[in-house]
Amino acid sequence: MDKFIIEGPTPLQGTLPVSGSKNAALPLMAAALLADSPTRIHHVPRLRDIYTFCNVIRVTGTHVLFDEDEGVVTIDPSNLAHVESPYELVRKMRASFYMLGALLGRTGRARVSLPGGCAWGPRPVDLHLKGMEEMGARIELESGYVVAESGDLLEGGRFTLKPSSVGATINLVLASVLRAKKFTIHNAAKEPDVVLLCKALVKMGADIEGIGSNTLTIRKVNSLSGTTLHNSPDRIETGTFMIAAAMHPESDVTLTNTSPEDLGVFPEYFEKTGAEVEFNETSIRVKAPETIRPMPVETAIYPGFPTDLQAQWSTMMTQAKGRSAVTDNVYPDRFSYVPELKRLGASMQLSGNTVEIDGGNSLTGASVMSTDLRASVSLVLAGMIAKGQTEVLRVYHLDRGYENLEKKLNRIGADILRVS
Ligand code: EPZ
Repeated sequence: MDKFIIEGPTPLQGTLPVSGSKNAALPLMAAALLADSPTRIHHVPRLRDIYTFCNVIRVTGTHVLFDEDEGVVTIDPSNLAHVESPYELVRKMRASFYMLGALLGRTGRARVSLPGGCAWGPRPVDLHLKGMEEMGARIELESGYVVAESGDLLEGGRFTLKPSSVGATINLVLASVLRAKKFTIHNAAKEPDVVLLCKALVKMGADIEGIGSNTLTIRKVNSLSGTTLHNSPDRIETGTFMIAAAMHPESDVTLTNTSPEDLGVFPEYFEKTGAEVEFNETSIRVKAPETIRPMPVETAIYPGFPTDLQAQWSTMMTQAKGRSAVTDNVYPDRFSYVPELKRLGASMQLSGNTVEIDGGNSLTGASVMSTDLRASVSLVLAGMIAKGQTEVLRVYHLDRGYENLEKKLNRIGADILRVS
């Protein structure tokens, strides 16, 4: 297992390129399975989760080619014959569960393993299954697998997501575009990842109304054709790098290849910490403040403060002058990074789904353990500002969601050594 050895504190100066979005690319790859001809997806990041999903899709007989140099994935489903996604692959990457919507949507049948748990607690899929039953599909659970059947034409109907769910919205759209006469999803998620998927499906020939709103209405079309799609920049990597650029008072970083409009309310909170931000079409310049002002946040569904930036925000607040509080309303137990930050000297108190942070004391390097993707990057951010040497263990969590992280950061002043 790889680990990072990080020397801090180091200011960051220069340009930081943002990679393609993991969470936007995965649904586009699943959507390609619905078409009668090949689809090419550009700007796909080279991440473990993408490679895993390529293998999950290959199990069906679909031809998948990932041109890593170009960052282009080509998916040709014409030989798709095996409508199954096995546990040993689905457990590696929860978003493989999108295969349920894609296979059911394309063939009317699917046998997909239930996703396992994840590092920070339960992540149910009840809304995915109830929504498909509402659409008219028959859903059975059979020794850890979901077995789904649906005729060629489902009456459809309507379903309200409580709570709003990105994954359930994506799965229900994938299952309905070729199959449900008319299906309306209320309280649908409207993350940029969902909007990009719906626009891609419409480009392929789907009939979807309400894109970008909380109510999506899908009407069945007979077929979808493959096309060329462009993945969006990773908005969570963008937010992570903005926070990285605000931690050391001498930092001055320009993020490139990004899309500021995908960040929801995050920039408003970020600017209130005192960081100087300059937005352009595809780049964001961040100059760190002399001192970081404490800024409490509560996560919410898009366009609210993203839960995927909650851990990184807490790290930033350990350097703010004063008290703040970070509350996660989406994943109430997503705080496994707190004990690790306390090992670096952070003063934090967790109660329920809120962590109180007493900022302003400097951190001192130590060995810390990654537990999940976003927690591990919050430890890297802390190591880059802590005095002395920080060891971040099990960085394979990072490799799932951040492309060449240490190379990008070292290029602008960080001192991170990957040790296998
Ligand atoms: C997506 O997960 C993202 N993953 C997550 O990012 C992200 O944290 C999450 O959305 C929230 O923004 C991908 O896009 C691959 P949800 P998802 O369904 O779809 C509850 C990362 O770091 N819920 O929107 O699984 C659920 O418990 C990952 O890249 C149900 O109750 O999230 C949660 O409280 C981590 N029943 C809330 O909805 C269901 O059937 C939101 O979850 C489904 C969800």
